[in-house]
Order: sequence, then structure tokens, then C-alpha cells
Amino acid sequence: MGFKEDIDTHKLPQHVAIIMDGNGRWAKGKGKLRVFGHHNGVLSVRDVVEGAGELGIKYLTLYTFSSENWNRPKFEVTAIMELLISTINKEIKKLMENNVRLNTIGDIEMLPKKCHDELLQAMATTAGNTGLVLTLALSYSSRREIVNAARAIAKRVEAGVLKADDIDEDMFAQHLHTADMPDPELLIRTSGEYRISNYLLWQIAYAELYFTDKLWPDFRREDLYEAILDYQKRERRFGMISEQIN
Ligand code: FPP
Repeated sequence: MGFKEDIDTHKLPQHVAIIMDGNGRWAKGKGKLRVFGHHNGVLSVRDVVEGAGELGIKYLTLYTFSSENWNRPKFEVTAIMELLISTINKEIKKLMENNVRLNTIGDIEMLPKKCHDELLQAMATTAGNTGLVLTLALSYSSRREIVNAARAIAKRVEAGVLKADDIDEDMFAQHLHTADMPDPELLIRTSGEYRISNYLLWQIAYAELYFTDKLWPDFRREDLYEAILDYQKRERRFGMISEQIN
């Protein structure tokens, strides 16, 4: 019996965020180029997206390319961008079949034009889907997102349309790229690294963190289910005490 059968589907996290890490090490361990790891990472993405949708998760947000990743060797950056384009092309039919809506967060204007255009096209094609919302974080920096939100709010104050005292957490959150999503309740990071790496810093304030040693190309839906089971065993207190929760 797998982990799926033990999951309480009435207590699913609505939003799961994943830091997909370890593609390079996975490839290196097999004596291959790092790019080989990214190609195999796509197989994990496909399986996890399907598995999440099947279970009834509403939002899945994948850290696909950080702002810092632009500093990688040009060859690798180009390969990831091409992989993104070919994956979108190959998977769009499946996304439609599975009722998945594609979304992005991050500075996607920074992406090569072809990649940017393909993404916009795929988002438009899937816009009417009502199942899983699959968000790819691309050219994403959480600190930049927060600074941009602060700047946008400051401009509204400067223009006299908003008072400084009207700024609260809800309205700040409305200026983030994730404005139309609930915060992730579960954040998973693969590859045995214990870092957040500038990912969804505001949004994970109360998220449960789950770390696994598995490298991303080895991560499959069963591993997602295992993480969700672990999440369901935790007590989320939001600063209160146990007796107040139960
Ligand atoms: C982290 O592994 C992975 C990335 C920075 C790229 C993620 C991209 C993919 C899985 C492929 C494209 C995705 C989609 C959604 C089509 P790493 O390279 O940092 O590995 P390392 O830590 O072992 O070096």
C-alpha cells in the first residue's frame, strides 16, 4: 500500500510549494552533464503535477528558475530555457486534459522572448481550466517581489490615493505576485539542503517545512504523498497552545 491511501483528503494543504533541487548532483553522480539532470527533472515535474492534481491539491508552486540562476554558465541557462519551451509545447495537451491552469510568478519579461511568448500563450490556453493551478516561479526573487510591492504602495501614498495608516498585511499581500493565491501550508525542498533561497519569504510565514534527501530527478508523486502525510501529522498552532487548537 502506498502513502496516498493514508492521506486524509479533507485535510489537504491547499497550496504546496516546492524547491526542486539536486538536478546537477544527480547528473554528476551518473557521470553526466548537469543538463541531463534538468531533463530528468522534467519527468519529476510531470509526475508530481499529475499526482498533485489527482489528489485534489489546488495550488502547486515550483521554484523553476531563480533570479540568481541567471549567473549560471550561459550554456546551462540556455539549456534550461530551451527545456522550458519544449516542455510547455509537449505538455500543453496534458495540462488541458488534466484541467490544469498554468501560471507564473517572477520577472518573466527577463526570459528570452520565445520562452516568454510560449508561456503567455500557454497561460492563455489554460486560463479557463478549473483544476490545479500550477505556478512556475521564473526569474523569481522573493526580496525583489517584496521591494516592488513596497514601492508600488509607496507610490500610491505619494499620489495621495492611500494613507500610510491604511497599509496592513492583507493589502501588502495584494501587491505580491501571489495576490490571487492562498499562502502555501507546505514547503518541500529536495536534495538535503536546509535553505529557503529567497523563495516566497512573505508567503511561507506559517508554512510547514519538509526537507528530503532525495534529489529532484528521483522525486515522484509517492514522495509528495509522503510529505503530505508528514504534514498531516503536525499540529499547526499559529502561535497558540495545543488546547486552543483541539
Ligand atoms: C535545481 O537543481 C534545479 C533548477 C535550478 C532548475 C529546475 C528546472 C527543471 C526541473 C526543468 C524545467 C522545469 C519545468 C517546470 C519545465 P540544481 O541545478 O540547482 O542542482 P544542484 O544543486 O545539484 O546543482
